[in-house]
Amino acid sequence: MPDTLAQALAWGRAELARAGVGSPDADAALLAAHVLGLSRGDTEARAILGAPEPTGYRDLVRRRAGREPLQHITGTAPFRQLDLAVGPGVFVPRPETELLVQLALDHAHAWREAGELHPAVIDLGTGSGAIALAVATEDPACRVTAVEREPAALEWTRRNLAGTAVRLLECDYRDVTPEAAGRFRVVVTNPPYVPDREIPEDPEVRDYDPPTALYGGDGAGMRLPCAAMDTALRVLRPGGSFIMEHAESQVHLVAHALAERGFRDVELHHDLTGRPRATTAVLAGTRT
Ligand SMILES: C[S@@+](CC[C@H](N)C(=O)[O-])C[C@H]1O[C@@H](n2cnc3c(N)ncnc32)[C@H](O)[C@@H]1O
Repeated sequence: MPDTLAQALAWGRAELARAGVGSPDADAALLAAHVLGLSRGDTEARAILGAPEPTGYRDLVRRRAGREPLQHITGTAPFRQLDLAVGPGVFVPRPETELLVQLALDHAHAWREAGELHPAVIDLGTGSGAIALAVATEDPACRVTAVEREPAALEWTRRNLAGTAVRLLECDYRDVTPEAAGRFRVVVTNPPYVPDREIPEDPEVRDYDPPTALYGGDGAGMRLPCAAMDTALRVLRPGGSFIMEHAESQVHLVAHALAERGFRDVELHHDLTGRPRATTAVLAGTRT
């Protein structure tokens, strides 16, 4: 007799736990939901009602047990209100980066309160387009630009941003100038910032996220974050906002680099688990 969905889920949970997957229960259920084309809740309800095991489920569990990222297997990553297409070649957006979107929305809102009807926002190193598209979706009054350089990532950026209001610049964010891109009220970025020697332990990150999305350079991982600050100095309007994700270990390096460049109101922000993972700052000068 074929197994039931409930038996398959129990097997999946055990396989994934044995393989060291951090969230075996959720992943076993989400893979079944993917095969069935249902939500996780509906899948679990079907399991209770005695539904049969779906064809192909065990193959997906075996891939996940080999530590292929869940999002590469399902082809999508949830991010705020979005489901983004992801796969090999692009950085999988993380839950902690949702904080950056909220900060960008809050800063854009402040500009609107100050009389700017359509604040211009630029996302440096957009990858899947996660931050740019979330801002444009949640505050359609913003004029959003996204910048990405890597050809493999751009396949996914183009796919996610096609038909949306986000303008895509396919170039190195170190080369963005006001002459080519205009000036912005908000610069937001989740740049590569992992210190060179801190190779991530999770195979999902180490073996699947592109190295060009991870390592920031200069040993401490600060070269590309500092380059994003320098681009912000060029393209922000006076009084404009700079918003950046970083590692916990980089809090002081980031604050120092911003102060060195003349940014003021440097403020640290914590993610939902209480870790200091983002810094905001304001470009000196009177708001115009
Ligand atoms: C950590 S990932 C963040 C992706 C996305 N913003 C997110 O939060 O999910 C950094 C991204 O910056 C891109 N990138 C790295 N260096 C770049 C550069 N010099 N110019 C433009 N994009 C760059 C990488 O290809 C990658 O997509």
